[in-house]
This record gives sequence, C-alpha cells and structure tokens, in this order.
Amino acid sequence: LPCSVFSTSEALSRHVAEIVAAIIRERQAQKATAVLGLPTGSTPMGVYRELVRMHQEEGLDLSNVITFNLDEYYGLKHDQLQSYHRTMHEVFFQHVNIPSENIHIPDGTIPLDEVDAYCEDFENKIREAGGIDLMLLGIGSNGHIGFNEPFSIRNSRTRLCTLDPITRRGAASDFFHEENVPHQAITMGIGTILEARKILLMALGQGKASIIRETIEGPISNRVPATILQEHRDTSFFVDSAAASKLT
Ligand code: F6R
Repeated sequence: LPCSVFSTSEALSRHVAEIVAAIIRERQAQKATAVLGLPTGSTPMGVYRELVRMHQEEGLDLSNVITFNLDEYYGLKHDQLQSYHRTMHEVFFQHVNIPSENIHIPDGTIPLDEVDAYCEDFENKIREAGGIDLMLLGIGSNGHIGFNEPFSIRNSRTRLCTLDPITRRGAASDFFHEENVPHQAITMGIGTILEARKILLMALGQGKASIIRETIEGPISNRVPATILQEHRDTSFFVDSAAASKLT
C-alpha cells in the first residue's frame, strides 16, 4: 500500500485538500458530480479547514459535490455537541457551497424499528449518486474504519453497530465521561467502503504508529478491519512522521 509521510499535520492536510479539490475540478470540467465519502474525528479537521479556505480565498466551487458521511453515533440529536451532524456543519458544510440536498449524514435519531430500512435507503442513495469517487478515512487505534470495529465482516453494509470498549474509552473526553458515550452507531459497512473508487486513509500522531504498521505491513485479518484495504486497488495512506515511526 502506498504511504506518503509528512513532517506536519498542516502539510498533510494541505496535500489531501489539494487531491480533493483536484477531483472536484476534474469532475466539474466534465460537467459531472464529485461524490465524496467523509469521516469525522480529529484527523480530518485540517482538511476541512483547508477546503473552506480554498473556497473562501481561491473561489473553489463545491456546487457539484455530493457527500456521504461514514458514521454517526446512535441516539444523539443533531444539535448535540458530540454529534457528527453538528461537527460537520460547524467545521465544513456551513462555510462552503455544497447544496444542502447533496449532504448525507447517517441519522442517529431514527427509531430502532426503522433503522434497517433507513440504512438500505442510505446505500441506495450512494448508488443513485453513481458510487463514491473519493473516500477519506481516519483509523481507530484498534484498526476500525468508520465504526467497523474488530471482527466486522468484509461484506458488511451500512448498519447499526456496537462500539468497541476501546472506541468508547477513546471518546470519553468528548462526552465528559465514558458512561455518556453511546453504545451504538450507524456506520457504512466495510463492503460499502471498499466500493469507493479511490480511498485515502489519514493518520496523525504516535498513538496511531502501531496500528499503521499493522495495517500496512501485517496480514489481512478481520481482527484489524483496516487491513482489508490491502485488497482495494486504489488505496493510499497519508500519515505524519509520528504515525509512520513504526514502519519498517
Ligand atoms: C469517524 C470515523 C472513525 C475515525 C477514527 C479516528 O467518522 O470514521 O473511524 O476516523 O476513530 O478518529 P480520530 O481522527 O479522532 O483519531
């Protein structure tokens, strides 16, 4: 798997934002839409900030963009502080010109008995949009992508899933206490992610060094969901020097 190493997170964010912008412009020249798969968490925030800057200062036009977010906590209202809806709007969508009807974020407020139909509809919307051109990913220290925790199956689709204790512990500070962290989330599946035409996984910091090594150099195993990306034909990694420090 190709892996580019950057000395700072700013340099990494600028580079990734350039790739996103290039795809948006290329599709625009063809009078086509650019379909993006988007993560939340701390890692991609610099990319969103850079895209906002490019829109505001350089006139980057995002009117042909369609977005699908990877995941959302289950049971959070959209305006709740930790909800990915709120984060995505505050950091990105509010500041750019993506038409609101083109924005799709899994809805964590769907009643339990409607979740399956809702998830199927989310998958249909991706298909109707023509599939995902570019999927950005972060990675959990346990190897999760989206909220596909260890032992998620390779063909999994968008669904309600249970969060791993490691993931809940990691989110504790965002929720002020581990008990407040939801136990479930709606996530795109591994099968959904693998259908994206191009995948770009980002990782920052020493805390990701071991999992980056396992993901790139280790055997493919459903114990580490991200290793399944080794089977995808256009996946690349963008990491900072700390996250790269255990690569051989
Ligand atoms: C969030 C998501 C997760 C995060 C991962 C890393 O939408 O898909 O897989 O990418 O948990 O989170 P950070 O970037 O906060 O280290």
